[in-house]
Amino acid sequence: MDPATSPVHLGVLASGRGSNFASIQDHIDQGELDARIEVLISDREDARVLERARNRSIPSYHVPHDVDHRKKFEEKAVQLLREYDVDLVILAGFMEVLSPYFLRQFPDRILNIHPSLLPAFKGLNAQKQALEYGVKYSGCTVHVVTEDVDSGPIIAQSVVPVHSDDTVERLSERILEQEHKLFPRAIQKYADEHFRE
Ligand code: GRF
Repeated sequence: MDPATSPVHLGVLASGRGSNFASIQDHIDQGELDARIEVLISDREDARVLERARNRSIPSYHVPHDVDHRKKFEEKAVQLLREYDVDLVILAGFMEVLSPYFLRQFPDRILNIHPSLLPAFKGLNAQKQALEYGVKYSGCTVHVVTEDVDSGPIIAQSVVPVHSDDTVERLSERILEQEHKLFPRAIQKYADEHFRE
């Protein structure tokens, strides 16, 4: 891309609901994020994110990912991301771990959002882990993806209070609201630092 003028080209990988995907596109539409989602790839055929992409006329692909298909998924995803000339790969609720092969194709170019204040509560069910631990504050983190899961350099975080009567659902919802603001901001920050002159 031309660093001075072009919006950053995003390729999004997502497995489910796609609210972060939608929020990123909303921020782009509102002129708050200078980017373009070039392609959406989902490993789940019934993922709502695929419908959201279709509704917004964003090229979208279902590429299966299971024990037998992991390598095929990654090769196909790499091919698509290259075809669409993607600068940054955005993991927005992508539920699979990417192999070193995939990570090497986009060094320092893959960003993930995690629903906790990393390095606390890595892995699945981060909101449940936070509640069970009894922390008074949790939140969300956008970080660069490296081989160690949920451990790469942190780009941005938002803090969310945990209430004494919280359920996993209520806390998740409160964190998600912040995710929707944090992710577009973190993408812009990272793009400004890495792609602008
Ligand atoms: C978010 O909570 C995100 O932090 C986690 O997966 C969830 C995805 O939600 N990685 P959505 O599909 O973006 O609505």
